[in-house]
Amino acid sequence: MRPDEIAQMFSQIAHRYDRANHILSFNRDRAWRKILVQHAAPKPGERLLDLCTGTGDVAIEFAKACPEMEIVGLDLSEEMLRVAREKLAQLSLDHRVRLIVGNALELPFAENSFEIVSQAFGLRNLPDRARGLKEIYRVLSPGGRALIVEFSIPQSFLMRLVYLPYLRYIVPIVGGMVSGSRAPYEYLRDSIEGFPDRAQILEELYEAGFRPVGYRDLTLGIATLYWGGKANC
Ligand SMILES: C[S@@+](CC[C@H](N)C(=O)[O-])C[C@H]1O[C@@H](n2cnc3c(N)ncnc32)[C@H](O)[C@@H]1O
Repeated sequence: MRPDEIAQMFSQIAHRYDRANHILSFNRDRAWRKILVQHAAPKPGERLLDLCTGTGDVAIEFAKACPEMEIVGLDLSEEMLRVAREKLAQLSLDHRVRLIVGNALELPFAENSFEIVSQAFGLRNLPDRARGLKEIYRVLSPGGRALIVEFSIPQSFLMRLVYLPYLRYIVPIVGGMVSGSRAPYEYLRDSIEGFPDRAQILEELYEAGFRPVGYRDLTLGIATLYWGGKANC
């Protein structure tokens, strides 16, 4: 899919995106974002870029966890950002997070601009993953870290027996009912099944320049947290 088609798809479901996410993941998505933030271990004064920020939940978690960070959220979809703005205002965090429309494949920032770059459930949507990872590496400052959460296929055979029918048949139906549009949840299913395995993602992080790289399975491997560091020169 082209970036404008992706943006349109998310704009279409923006107002029901959070609800569908919480229902389909049995609320585990909230815990996954918290784990991402804990793993990043943000410190006061650090600058964070949250890519594919969508309705802003990762940026919000960082803002709550660390009161003195500079936070920027970037997304292609103006509608998703509108929802993020409303949530930030309700939480009185609107002064803490700057939201901008932009493409994760062409970041409008200089090299070495952020100590932390995060991306939750965004990497799967990029038509050129290698370029997306190189962009993250470029804007990270030396000593900085990238944290990426993405859906994955469980490694355990037993878990796959339960999860794959759920992903293939239940997710499009329930996602369609909650959001009012089934196509984005068929896309979700297909893009999860088509996403490379953990070893491949680690290799791609390494190729982009990250050292060290690693991952941790979340909720029996339904999602995976990846990380990569940018070495001090
Ligand atoms: C599945 S949502 C994830 C939102 C949020 N990070 C979360 O944790 O719920 C994916 C988001 O990525 C955005 N997106 C997709 N391709 C993008 C790109 N090339 N550049 C920036 N944002 C993009 C979409 O607009 C959408 O808001």
